[in-house]
Amino acid sequence: MKRIGILTAGGDTPALNATIHGAVARANQLSIEAYGFIKGYNSLYNERIPHVHLNPLFQEIPELDPTKGGTILGSSRDYVDPDDDEALSKITQKLHRLKVDGLVCIGGDGTLNGLQPLADRIPVVLAPKTIDNDLGLNYRSEPDEYIRCERHDRSGFDYRMKPSRIEFHLDHMINYVTPGFVTAVFVSSQGVQRIRTTAESHRRIAIIEVMGRHSGYIALGSSYGQPDITLVPEHPLDLELLVDRVKEMYDLQKNVVIVCGEGIVDEAGRDLGDEESSTDPSGNKVLKGASEALRQLLIKKMGDDYFASYRRGNSANEAIFTRKVGHTQRGGRPIFFDRFYGAHLGGKAVDLLVEGRNNAVATIQWSAAKGFWVDSFHSNGFRDRWGHIHARKMHPSFYDSNNLKLSTMGREYLQPIFTHAIGHDDLEHQRNTTFAASSLLMPYHSVNTDLNKRINYL
Ligand code: F6P
Repeated sequence: MKRIGILTAGGDTPALNATIHGAVARANQLSIEAYGFIKGYNSLYNERIPHVHLNPLFQEIPELDPTKGGTILGSSRDYVDPDDDEALSKITQKLHRLKVDGLVCIGGDGTLNGLQPLADRIPVVLAPKTIDNDLGLNYRSEPDEYIRCERHDRSGFDYRMKPSRIEFHLDHMINYVTPGFVTAVFVSSQGVQRIRTTAESHRRIAIIEVMGRHSGYIALGSSYGQPDITLVPEHPLDLELLVDRVKEMYDLQKNVVIVCGEGIVDEAGRDLGDEESSTDPSGNKVLKGASEALRQLLIKKMGDDYFASYRRGNSANEAIFTRKVGHTQRGGRPIFFDRFYGAHLGGKAVDLLVEGRNNAVATIQWSAAKGFWVDSFHSNGFRDRWGHIHARKMHPSFYDSNNLKLSTMGREYLQPIFTHAIGHDDLEHQRNTTFAASSLLMPYHSVNTDLNKRINYL
């Protein structure tokens, strides 16, 4: 293998540059040229296939900084249609003309779905990334537990899981954690802590919405910010229980902090947050407004009298507020865990290509005995019997639905990841840069400006 291509696809994460860096560093060791494709799969569909030589003379270009969030290559949510043979053949021809022998795709479950039709034509491997932490399996046989039901209007199929008969063990998880998730939780937990003191001061009830689609990992991880209540998509909302719990906490401490995942569902399984029933280019539902929907439910259930009787504000409307942590979860400097394992996954992906392990996924494994290590898993192992890759849900045992909080198992899951997730340099970096005088003097210099000068075309 003399030349490989690298691309980043799907929503960005803080660990992407670290993963590209790991791949390029390994390519340098093996004297392999690395071309970076601009804007994920989008570049492959472009006639001129815009790309950047990431390691001229086997030296990494200086723009590639593993401590910087985002991706210097850019990303997109372009969808690879497995049935579009013509487009796929064109892509293969272009890659051959560029003399690219294999492809490292850095992405999540959507990217992995797109990888399959490419893998029939050129060696491709995946280095995982996602803040949602939903690329992986809770146990090896999880895909076999999916059943599919045809929709009433015959417009397609819905997939859901049968109740599992598997005894769950943390060290049986495939891809225990994905780079990007850890920094997202670092940000969301800090958000929760910061909202707390203002809720305390003003006797308010705060509903903080975090990302994660229909997987509750970020909400679960936000438990580090010590919210009073955590709501995850995997457990349908029990409104009566929630209201009881909110009142109980409010009686006691005159403020309540609730964290909710953006994909939470009501008792009938309907998304609270899909105000706008729309999807992105990869078919993912756009989730907006779970926290606001929840707020309206609480306002209705609790009523103004409740707050007036406490003389803590005039109305429920005033006392209950929402905040989204939003894209700050996806941006900025990756903390140590994400940088370290992101880089290792990138390096492993290159090894997988060199070893001829087409269609494989580099993974992060964990066991109590060994701690973390980097391994791999064939992408077919993630597919159900109909060939679909589903986003991993947080295992139900990570959550205590009676207490609306993380469970003992949830705590055991998080601790190995987060206990040493922050590096000394992360804090030092913050101390040195946050109020650096140079920030006031100089405008922001975007890496895109420099990278543009390096873009080549077929
Ligand atoms: O998949 C990552 C993610 O951040 C989700 O948690 C979120 O729902 C979605 O992407 C938001 O996508 P966009 O940035 O395209 O609005």
